[in-house]
Amino acid sequence: MSKQVGILTAGGDSPGLNAVLRGIGKAALEQFHMEVIGFRDGFRGLMENRTVDLDEQVLSGILTVGGTILGTSRDKPHRMLVGGKQMDMTDAIVENYHRNHLDVLVCIGGGGTQKNAFRLMQKGLNIITLPKTIDNDVVLTDVSFGFNTALGIATEAVDRLHSTAHSHHRIILVETMGHRAGWLALGAGVAGGADVILIPEIPYDVDKVANAILRRSRGGKHFSIVAIAEGALSMKDAAVLKRKAKSKTKKEKNTPAQASPGSSSPEREQGSNTLKLAARLEKLTGLESRVTILGYLQRGGTPSADDRILATRLGTACAALIDSGVYGVMLAARGDKAVPVPLEDVVGRIKTVPADHSWTEGARRVGTSFGDL
Ligand code: F6P
Repeated sequence: MSKQVGILTAGGDSPGLNAVLRGIGKAALEQFHMEVIGFRDGFRGLMENRTVDLDEQVLSGILTVGGTILGTSRDKPHRMLVGGKQMDMTDAIVENYHRNHLDVLVCIGGGGTQKNAFRLMQKGLNIITLPKTIDNDVVLTDVSFGFNTALGIATEAVDRLHSTAHSHHRIILVETMGHRAGWLALGAGVAGGADVILIPEIPYDVDKVANAILRRSRGGKHFSIVAIAEGALSMKDAAVLKRKAKSKTKKEKNTPAQASPGSSSPEREQGSNTLKLAARLEKLTGLESRVTILGYLQRGGTPSADDRILATRLGTACAALIDSGVYGVMLAARGDKAVPVPLEDVVGRIKTVPADHSWTEGARRVGTSFGDL
């Protein structure tokens, strides 16, 4: 009997999703003679049993295409909006898994998807996940697909903003995505030679940022580029957040039933935080300031060559893993290898930029300010 494989893409879309669908699908069909179906719009499509046959024709011509042919959503199995109400739809999902006679469900996504997939694994489903996110914040993998493309887009933006900042003698703050991790801002800041890089892992002092800009001005450089991650925080805000998190943990300890992991999203306000910071810097330095929020541009369009290769590598390795019957794992990229790691080791953790990371060190050595010293 050939194996029946189900696939879904969940969470924010990302370049390389179609490349990975093609990788899994083609290897599963051609090399391992499996049958492959996709579920539309993430866990919602699985709950509603909206399927699409991933045959040779559907999988053809999608390697270079952005987004996901399956569609995606941020719906969670255990908390889904149905008829205007939040409902736990896990049982319906488990039922559809069996209705489709699946041997395995492949869930492609970032941190949230890993968590949701793990919950389904705990319900007895065979699960494999793949790490996808432009934020690069999934643990135990060197990199997630989508990151390299987004990094290229953000770097090009930093490059382009240089000439206009220089011409107008302005400060330009360029805000990248990244959720609570600073990989995109840091990478694009280093690659594009930003003068200041602000990331969530290194809270900044506004006066120190202003001083770094003023130092440049005194040296005859009357413009500055600030690469800022959407999750970046001032030292003051970081202290407030820490206090809030502490009291939340205390409350949760007293009333564990109310704990809802991953529900808060402080960086939603980041666009406005970056605007506020720009206004402060304008006051403190006397230089005109402007803000460019890169937003969804970073997620759209064709994947880079690196992401296509990574997605093909992980996708095809995933088909081989299914053939060997290894489940309950995320397939991680480690050097040139695709390594299965236990899903339970992945969930609930995020990969942030370590304090001594070589990208940060390199940036400091060329005089980039992180607003902390
Ligand atoms: O998780 C990827 C990401 O791009 C984050 O960097 C960002 O905070 C979030 O998605 C925003 O996406 P959406 O508006 O689609 O929820």
